[in-house]
Parts: sequence; structure tokens; C-alpha cells
Amino acid sequence: MLKAVILVGGPLKGTRFRPLSLDIPKPLFPVAGLPMIQHHIEACAKVPNLKEIIILGYYPPNDLSNFISEMAQKHDVVIRYFQEFRSLGTAGGMYHFRDQIMFGNPSGFFLLHGDVCADFPLQDILSFHEEKGNSLITIMATETSKEQALNYGCIAKHPMLDYMTHYVEKPSTFVSNLISCGVYFCSVELFETLKTTFKRKQENAYNGLELNGKDCEAMQLEEDVLTPLAGTGRGYVYVTSKWWSQLKTAGAAIYANRHYLGLYRTSQPMRLAPNSKTVTGDVFIHPTADVDPTAYIGPNVSIGPDVTIGAGVRLKDTIVLDGATIGSHTLVINTIVGRHVKIGSWARVEGTPCDPNPNKPFAKMDNLPLFNKDGRLNPSITILGCSVKVPSEVILLNSIVLPYKELTRSFKYEIIL
Ligand code: GDD
Repeated sequence: MLKAVILVGGPLKGTRFRPLSLDIPKPLFPVAGLPMIQHHIEACAKVPNLKEIIILGYYPPNDLSNFISEMAQKHDVVIRYFQEFRSLGTAGGMYHFRDQIMFGNPSGFFLLHGDVCADFPLQDILSFHEEKGNSLITIMATETSKEQALNYGCIAKHPMLDYMTHYVEKPSTFVSNLISCGVYFCSVELFETLKTTFKRKQENAYNGLELNGKDCEAMQLEEDVLTPLAGTGRGYVYVTSKWWSQLKTAGAAIYANRHYLGLYRTSQPMRLAPNSKTVTGDVFIHPTADVDPTAYIGPNVSIGPDVTIGAGVRLKDTIVLDGATIGSHTLVINTIVGRHVKIGSWARVEGTPCDPNPNKPFAKMDNLPLFNKDGRLNPSITILGCSVKVPSEVILLNSIVLPYKELTRSFKYEIIL
């Protein structure tokens, strides 16, 4: 029997996702019509013999409870949420809830970061892990550019035997362009390693050694476990060439939306709106949305529940969240329209895509800071926080509008507070 653990962090994480994470916990932000971690759950539920999915975070349980019960009803898998009493790190929560994870004697479990999106090759990772026999953990890895690798966990591996020879978390100089995707398969014996690590940290804290003010109850899988495991022959690296990306910023959500919609085309075409004279490419329209038949939609658009789209509206590379209204003949491109936003007629709302550089092989998305060196906003997608009102006939370009703001004029490259 197998299990899966999904790490979702908590309210203090996901700050780069603001203002969208102000009214929706980041793991539940809809991408391609589904809460971000529903894509993880669906991938896990497809693995034969996977019986339980444990979601670990430090969100108050009420934030996720409706979602968890909805998921439990939809899938033939037990789904539970456990709240860490505070941030315990990428391995601390797993160790804290080891009895719950071990309950029922699973032979191993997947460990997935909630803030990545991918065409998860879980069955392949499992077969790879089993083939290696003595592996404590198999890390899914992908290639990236030399410069971008510094933002990730960098791995070196034996070219033939695939065991990890070196691991450095976010190195300051180049180590390898093979990076950890935050997707793992763990044998239950890994808990022995976690126990030893936890004990060492406690002893060091007790003796006043080593910690330099760091939290001794938190454990990071990357620095505390993977780095020491490198070279021991007990950690293996599975390299994927399938699509994978981090989902740290709102800009990444538009990129992820496109890819998840693209995956529906082969795996779940029923989820996509049929193409017609007015719907092109991959488009998700929630059945409760009211879309005028003259609106021209797509490609890469997701429209949430109870959304109203007026006549002659043009939408492209955009996510429209529940309850939003877009007035007639308005154009919206590269934008996230928050919940219950109202946009008038004949308006233009536009952002700049933040896709990976297509000319650099293996490039991932750049998670650019909000501001450039001159203190100006970096061009990015436009984001309208919840319940924002945009009047008719205005232009909104590369701007971020915080929740509940009522605009009265056009804006370019501004954060509107
Ligand atoms: N439950 C729980 N508790 N989850 C946590 C905690 C915690 O204390 N801290 C982080 N997480 C979750 C986050 O919500 C996120 O889903 C994931 O763990 C990764 O956490 P980050 O701390 O944001 O790390 P990162 O994304 O910068 O880097 C990690 O992921 C990269 C791949 O996306 C590292 O593992 C890198 O090596 C890796 O390349």
C-alpha cells in the first residue's frame, strides 16, 4: 500500500502570490479550473494501490476543510489534513506526523510540494525507485539553465547508476543544472534518517551548538537530509523531461494554466470547452458561468463559477475567478481577474506574460521581483484583487490592484493600493 504527502506551507508562505492569496489560501488558487493542489491529488489518485493522501501545512484547518471533504467524496482515497503547530520545515512536519503517515504499514509514500505544477510522472518514479532496491528517497529532477539553477536545489548524480553524488540547496555558485522538482518518492526507512537528524538537532540545541539561532524543531529535507545523503548510495535521481514549473508568483499561474489546459487535451478533453467560431484553443468554462455567445475566448483561458462575460468581450491568456463580471466589448489579456471583480464595458485590461525564455534551452520561469533597479514595476501580468471595480472605457496595463479598490481612471505600471 502507498501513501502521498503534500506540503502546502501556511499563511506566512506564498507572499509573492499576493494579492491573490489574501482571500484564497494559495494551495486552493484555481489553475485550469481546479484548485492548485487538486492537480496533485488527481495525479496521486491515479497511482494503483495509493490509499491515502496527507496534506501537511500550518493553515487553520477551516481554511481547507471544505476542499478536503469535497476531494474525499470525489476520489476513492482517504484525504486528511494535518496542521503543524507552526512551520516545521519541509521535513519537520513529515517527522512530526510520522505515526499518521506510517499507519496501515505503507511500503512508501510520494512527497510533493504544493507549489509546483507538472505533468507528474508518479508511476514512473515509483518503478524507478523500486528498481534501485536500496533507495531511501528518489528525487524527481529536471534540467534548467545555468543561471536559474542557483534558485533551486542543485543535484549531481552518477551518470550510469543514477545515485545522488552531491546536493546543494540554492548554491551561490554553479554546481549543476540538474535541479530538484520538489517531487519525491520515499521509502518508510527514511524515518530512521529523520529520527537521527532530529535527535542531532535537539542535542546540538541542548548543548548550545551549531544552530546559530535556527529553529531546532524545524527540519529541512534539503539541507538536513538530502545534503548528508548525497554520496551514500541511498538517494537516487529520476530525471524527467516532462513539463514542470514552480508556482510561486501570480505570473506563473497564467503559465501553469496554459500547460494544465494543454494536458486536459490528452487526458480529460471533456473538461475543455469545444472549439467554435468564438472559442479557440484550450479553454475551461465552468458550467455555471454565463458567457455571451459573441464573446471571443481563448486560447488559454479559465473561467470560474458564476462569472458573467458580456457581448463582444475578448479574453486571452487569462484566469477569471468566481463571481466576476466583464462588461461588453472589453478586452482582457495576460490577466488574473479576482473573485467578484466588476469590469465595465469597452475597457482594456492587459499584462505582459512572464513565460520562460524560449531561446534558452531548459529555461524555467524567472520569478522576477516586483520592482526593477530603477524602482519601477517590472512588466508582469495584470492582477485585479477580489471585488475590484474597473469602470468602462479605461486602460489598465501591467498593474496590480489590491482588493476592494474602485478605480476611476486608467493606470499603467502601478500598484494601486
Ligand atoms: N507543511 C509545510 N511546513 N510545508 C512547508 C513548510 C513548512 O514548514 N515550509 C515550506 N513548505 C512547503 C511550501 O508550501 C512549498 O510547497 C514547499 O514546501 C517548498 O518550500 P519552500 O520553502 O518555498 O522552498 P522552495 O520552493 O524555495 O525550494 C524547494 O522547492 C524547489 C522546487 O520547487 C526546494 O526543495 C528546492 O530544492 C527545489 O528545487
